[in-house]
Amino acid sequence: MEERRVGYYEILLVMVLVTLLHISLNIVPASANFSDEVEQHRRNLLANGLGTTPPMGWNSWNHFNCQINEKIIRETADALVSTGLSKLGYNYVNIDDCWAELNRDDKGNLVAKKSTFPSGIKALADYVHSKGLKLGIYSDAGYFTCSNKMPGSLGHEFQDAKTFASWGIDYLKYDNCNNDGSKPTVRYPVMTRALMNAGRPIFFSLCEWGDMHPALWGARVGNSWRTTNDINDSWDSMISRADMNEVYADLAKPGGWNDPDMLEVGNGGMTKDEYIVHFSLWAISKAPLLLGCDIRNMSKEIVEIITNKEVIAVNQDSLGVQAKKVRMEGDQEIWAGPLSGYRVAVVLLNRGPLRNAITANWDDLGIPPKSVVQARDLWQHQTLKKVFVDKLSATVDPHSCKMYVLKPVG
Ligand SMILES: *[C@@H]1O[C@H](CO)[C@@H](O)[C@H](O)[C@H]1NC(C)=O
Ligand SMILES: *[C@@H]1O[C@H](CO)[C@@H](O)[C@H](O)[C@H]1NC(C)=O
Repeated sequence: MEERRVGYYEILLVMVLVTLLHISLNIVPASANFSDEVEQHRRNLLANGLGTTPPMGWNSWNHFNCQINEKIIRETADALVSTGLSKLGYNYVNIDDCWAELNRDDKGNLVAKKSTFPSGIKALADYVHSKGLKLGIYSDAGYFTCSNKMPGSLGHEFQDAKTFASWGIDYLKYDNCNNDGSKPTVRYPVMTRALMNAGRPIFFSLCEWGDMHPALWGARVGNSWRTTNDINDSWDSMISRADMNEVYADLAKPGGWNDPDMLEVGNGGMTKDEYIVHFSLWAISKAPLLLGCDIRNMSKEIVEIITNKEVIAVNQDSLGVQAKKVRMEGDQEIWAGPLSGYRVAVVLLNRGPLRNAITANWDDLGIPPKSVVQARDLWQHQTLKKVFVDKLSATVDPHSCKMYVLKPVG
């Protein structure tokens, strides 16, 4: 049995990571170069007021990869509204890689790909805005994006940020392919300053795959930062991204979030229970909830998962504290984190192949001993009839979870 004492190990780990960064990755001298002066470096470069709760919306990559066009983006915006998803907070419509021509125009501007985005990005932004939604776009801190099918923004940061702002872009995902070998701590802040200079608040999503532990420096550079390399639509990929992201729980807060990558719910590679685990862990981890399926064509089962208001409310809670694994016993884990109003969100997770009982003690959850607690089951949508003193137990199916909000009573 492994028991984790919350706080101590996390603090130790962060200290070790910071030391590693200072010694081996040489972050301090590197970051002193990127800005004008040390004073500038200390200051938060990104004061855009965005991301007070984790962003919610959709991104084209997980389902469509490079096979995108303006019709798909428009229809997705329509579907976000007609399915009621936008009312639940899914507001960002984010275009990923492959939206631009390989060559810039003769003034060096990025140009929307004529064959797939003939109306241009400005028209698309106007359309998306007319639906009450926001439009996101994608670029790269290198010479070409990861697909190699369009230019990156390295060396064009100020020009591209101005272009994005002039089109009405609200969100930028900034990838890390085909760069010049310099550190992300050098390249990413240039785009931060370019966005701050562009005249429009643009959510800045750092996508350097967790290479240089961006949780440690991302908060002054972006509104979210990837802590992992890309997810794929499988249990192993999903659960391992949740694990890698959990390590940095202490560093998430309103305005800056750890990002274990976008959701695969609805793409067909996992069971319903596994997708429920995926959605529950992303929600309790305060991860961006960016859907990655075809919104125009979802099964009832998938709609049920992604429209769970109670689970979304955990993600969007005003306290903005990311959950941690507070206990691990073999394949059984307890993830928990505080919510506003002295409540606690809990996921009882069974990663193994067999049905198993899992018990969460108040001691694990930071609830005072002997507290009388009411439990709301967020997937059954029911408040359990009995109250609990000291602990809560449940039997959990393989590759499944239970999710509760606990509230002390009296
Ligand atoms: C998905 O990710 C898992 C775990 O990271 C890996 O083992 C698997 O090969 C990947 N599958 C594909 C199709 O890339
Ligand atoms: C809709 O989804 C189903 C099952 O997921 C799939 O078989 C079908 O091809 C999809 N239809 C379209 C138009 O994409």
